[in-house]
Amino acid sequence: MQTEHRIPSIAAAAAAAGVVLLFSTADAAAAQDGLAEKGRQISEVHCSRCHVVDPDNRMAGISSTPSFMILIKALDDWRDRFATFHARLPHPAHVRFEGDGPRPIDLPATTKEVVLKVEDIEAIVAYAEALANDMKE
Ligand code: HEC
Repeated sequence: MQTEHRIPSIAAAAAAAGVVLLFSTADAAAAQDGLAEKGRQISEVHCSRCHVVDPDNRMAGISSTPSFMILIKALDDWRDRFATFHARLPHPAHVRFEGDGPRPIDLPATTKEVVLKVEDIEAIVAYAEALANDMKE
């Protein structure tokens, strides 16, 4: 008798889990899209004066600086590089994080200073990920 009851309840549980899984996959995709969009906006504001950051706006940036698309295409480890760009030259000269405190007086920003939140990095990486996916299509 027990087993007869258990079978439908396992099926119901599995179905419910399936629904939860479906919803959480959709939620995760939506969250990722939101994060990538946030990263796109941050990149437009803070990176596009040097880099072309968007395939639809190639007029931005300066030609001596590689575009985000070139970086993604050329570098196998682009994910790491976007996640650590703030520590890579030339960025330490103008990027710092909120809460880091002001720059030392003897190390002024060499160009317009950019102050990011630590979580902005995640958004920038999500945007690079979205660009990489678009480039595959
Ligand atoms: C003042 C100009 C300038 C700004 C602003 C700037 N970059 Fe860069 N970035 C450069 C240059 C120049 C290079 C190429 C350095 C080289 O060739 O070694 C570069 C390289 C990179 C690289 C590759 C680094 C490596 O070591 O391979 C990444 C990733 C990157 N930038 C991300 C960003 C992001 C994200 C932003 C905005 C938050 C940004 N950059 C803003 C000038 C800039």
